[in-house]
Order: sequence, then structure tokens, then C-alpha cells
Amino acid sequence: MSDNNSPPGSPKQNPAQNSETNLLPKDDSSLETIVRKIQDSMSLAKGHKFWETQPVGQFKDVGDTSLPEGPIEPPIPLSEVKQEPYNLPNPYEWTTCDMDSEDTCTEVYNLLKNNYVEDDENMFRFNYSKEFLSWALRPPGYYKSWHIGVRAKASKKLVAFITGVPARIRVRDEVVKMAEINFLCVHKKLRSKRLAPVMIKEVTRRVHLENIWQAAYTAGVVLPTPITTCQYWHRSLNPKKLIDVGFSRLGPRMTMSRTIKLYKLPDSPATPGFRKMELHDVPAVTRLLRSYLSQFVVSPDFDENDVEHWLLPTDGVVDSYLVESPESHDVTDFCSFYTLPSSILGNQNYSILKAAYSYYNVSTKTPLLQLMNDALIVAKQKDFDVFNALDVMHNESFLKELKFGPGDGQLHYYLYNYRIRNALRPSELGLVLL
Ligand SMILES: CC(C)(COP(=O)(O)OP(=O)(O)OC[C@H]1O[C@@H](n2cnc3c(N)ncnc32)[C@H](O)[C@@H]1OP(=O)(O)O)[C@@H](O)C(=O)NCCC(=O)NCCS
Repeated sequence: MSDNNSPPGSPKQNPAQNSETNLLPKDDSSLETIVRKIQDSMSLAKGHKFWETQPVGQFKDVGDTSLPEGPIEPPIPLSEVKQEPYNLPNPYEWTTCDMDSEDTCTEVYNLLKNNYVEDDENMFRFNYSKEFLSWALRPPGYYKSWHIGVRAKASKKLVAFITGVPARIRVRDEVVKMAEINFLCVHKKLRSKRLAPVMIKEVTRRVHLENIWQAAYTAGVVLPTPITTCQYWHRSLNPKKLIDVGFSRLGPRMTMSRTIKLYKLPDSPATPGFRKMELHDVPAVTRLLRSYLSQFVVSPDFDENDVEHWLLPTDGVVDSYLVESPESHDVTDFCSFYTLPSSILGNQNYSILKAAYSYYNVSTKTPLLQLMNDALIVAKQKDFDVFNALDVMHNESFLKELKFGPGDGQLHYYLYNYRIRNALRPSELGLVLL
């Protein structure tokens, strides 16, 4: 196990691991669960030298109903925002990463490919593609200055990275301009030197310079204080490979051929009118999505530009399908998933695990179960090995029935400078961060 397996540096959970065969219920006394509970309680006990100084919900305030919901600190005049970057240790310098540049995109890709999030047992590491990074970091209205790198002054090598992108996030009936913070990564050789807090402060400063005072982010580690804690579930599409690479295990009294049969899917989707989303569908999908997301406590406030960017299919990055009623031609249902492969570390036969991640799904006419079964079918057609989903929104209603199994570890959601009085249930969350 590497250093990033234990707090404070443990990573955003890479869900690319399912140590149980999918049909087995998660054993709450499993070693991983016990270790995680100990780590979480250590996080509470040990204190957070950095996070305790930040405007985030603090552990000591949990359950204090006298504290109001909303911004923790008010905005300050822009002229009072620190104008110079924070100091880095002497051998390093800030760089703004121009994601339009193929070379810079490749440098970022390589830093993350070699140093980003791993699962607890260091068997898999996220391998975001260049196309994905370019998509994730350039939504409508993005700021280049929020794509922040750190280079070694001498070699100019990129050694750390953090990003923000702008988003409008609705919390109850308030739409708040926020930054979505992602891709925090410090080179393995530079860990535990307190570089992460400097990077977080620098991205915060640059967000403030755009007159934005709130942020949303996720992590696999417990920090002060999650607004909700979600679990990943996995649906095997290629069980043989998943077992061969150690992602899942053959269940007791199961043979490989019975397992393959168990996860077999029809060759094509069942729902009449199920088809890929196209550009002309943007207005209808936006209406469908806005109306669906309004029922959750926290969700993005998507307009047509956002939907075109985040949900119109992009090869190898995001896939979206909808149901167009054969009679009325109304768009009644929608489902989507994004492509995030993981490198398989140290396996002789395979180097890449092809994973689809459930994104936003809306059902009004087609039962969600049937819609998601069609999503599994198209993901299988596209040669994904596994389909992952969090227990957010209405996902719980189909996970077990569609043969998803619970994964290890949890994903915590956070807001910066915005207090939520009571933690949400995952099903109250309508937000998926990449
Ligand atoms: C996450 C990572 C950048 C942290 O760097 P590090 O060298 O381990 O830790 P540092 O000594 O620089 O900083 C430690 C501080 O950062 C905080 N921190 C660690 N991981 C964090 C995360 N994912 N999000 C926010 N803060 C985090 C710690 O809690 C600690 O602050 P505290 O004392 O208030 O608790 C690094 O471990 C890494 O690159 N890991 C792999 C990729 C990854 O997991 N990225 C995060 C995805 S959410």
C-alpha cells in the first residue's frame, strides 16, 4: 500500500475496484470497511491544520442548528483580493496550463496518468484521456487562469495541477455561481510537503478574482465536512476480464461460465424510439433535465449552452441517448454516461479497464430500470468492461435489480464557503462531478 492510502493524502476514491463479486452483498465487517471507519474517525480526531482555517463546515459545528444555511463568509471587494500568487517552495513556479495547446494537454495527461487517483490497493489508476480533459476543462465561460500547474523551475517539468471550471449550482431555491474544483494532483515524489494547501489557496484566489466565492468538489478522503457521502456501484459488462484483472472475484459456488451468463445483455436496446442525442435535441433535453433536476436539494442549473457542452455526445468522452416517442415525437427520457478508463497496474495481459460512468438520467415515460438497461446494452456494444454509478438521484431504484454490486470506498461531496445545515442523503443530490 502506498502513502496515499492513508489520511491526509488519500485520494478521491477510484471506484475501479470491486473486491466482491457483484451479486454478493457488501460485508460491512470487511477489512476495507473497518480500515475506512478507523481512518474516518482519525480524520475527526487528528484535526485538519489547513481545512480548519477555511470557510467550510467544521466538524465541531455538525448538528448546530443555530447556524444559518448559505455563505459562511461574505464576499470582499475585488480590490482587497490578494493580487499576487501565493509563494511556492523555491524550486517550483506557477504556470497557467493552456489546454488549447496540444503539448500542454499532453503534459497534463501524463502527470495525471502517472500520479492521479488510485484505488486503495493500487491496482488501478484513473487514466483520463486528453479529449476528456479538453472537454472537462473548457465548458462555456471557462477561465484559462483556473487551469493551474506547478513546474520545477530547473527542468520545467509539470509536477502538480489543480483546476476550476465555472458552474451555476442550485442549492434549494438559490442558484449560486461556483467553481467546480477538480484534478488536484501532486507528483508522487512531492507528496506530504503541504503543497496541496498552497494549490487550493491559489485556485481559490483566482476564483475570487472572478468575483466567485463558492465552490463544489469531491474527494475520497473525509475532510470538514461532507454535504453527502455516496457509494459507487459497478455493473460488470465483461466479467471475465474484470475477474482476470482482479477488479472482481468469482463468487462462491459460481463458475466463470455461469458468471458470464449472469451478466449477459441483449444485443440491442429494447425501448422503441431509443436513439443517440443530436444537436437539434438540445432544447428538449434541457427542458427535460431542468424539470427533473429541480426536485433535488443540490443540482447544476443547466441552460442550453451547458447541455450542448456537457451532454451532446462527444466521441470517447460522453454518450447520451434519449427516447423520442414514435407517436408524438416528444423526447420523454434521457440517459448519459462518460468514458473514464483506468490503467491496470502490473497485469501481464491487460493495461486498460474501460469504464463508463453514469452521468445524468431522466425518465418520464420509460421506466428508469428499462432506460438504464438500455444504457447498459449500448455501453456493452461500445466495448466497455464495466458501468459505474453512484447512489445519487434515483439511481438506487435500479442498481440492485440491474445487477450492480457495491464497490469499495466512498465519494464525499463538499461545498466551499457554503453551509448546509444537515447532511443530505445521496438520493437528494442531483450533481455528478467528473
Ligand atoms: C491529493 C494530493 C494532491 C494531496 O497532496 P499530499 O502531498 O498528499 O498532501 P499535502 O501534504 O500537500 O497536503 C495535505 C493537506 O491537503 C489536504 N488534502 C489531501 N487530499 C485532499 C483532497 N483530495 N482534497 C482536498 N484536500 C486534500 C489534507 O487533508 C491536508 O490538509 P489538512 O491538514 O487540513 O487535513 C496527493 O495526495 C495526490 O496527488 N494524490 C493522488 C491524486 C488525488 O487523490 N487527487 C485528489 C482527488 S480529489
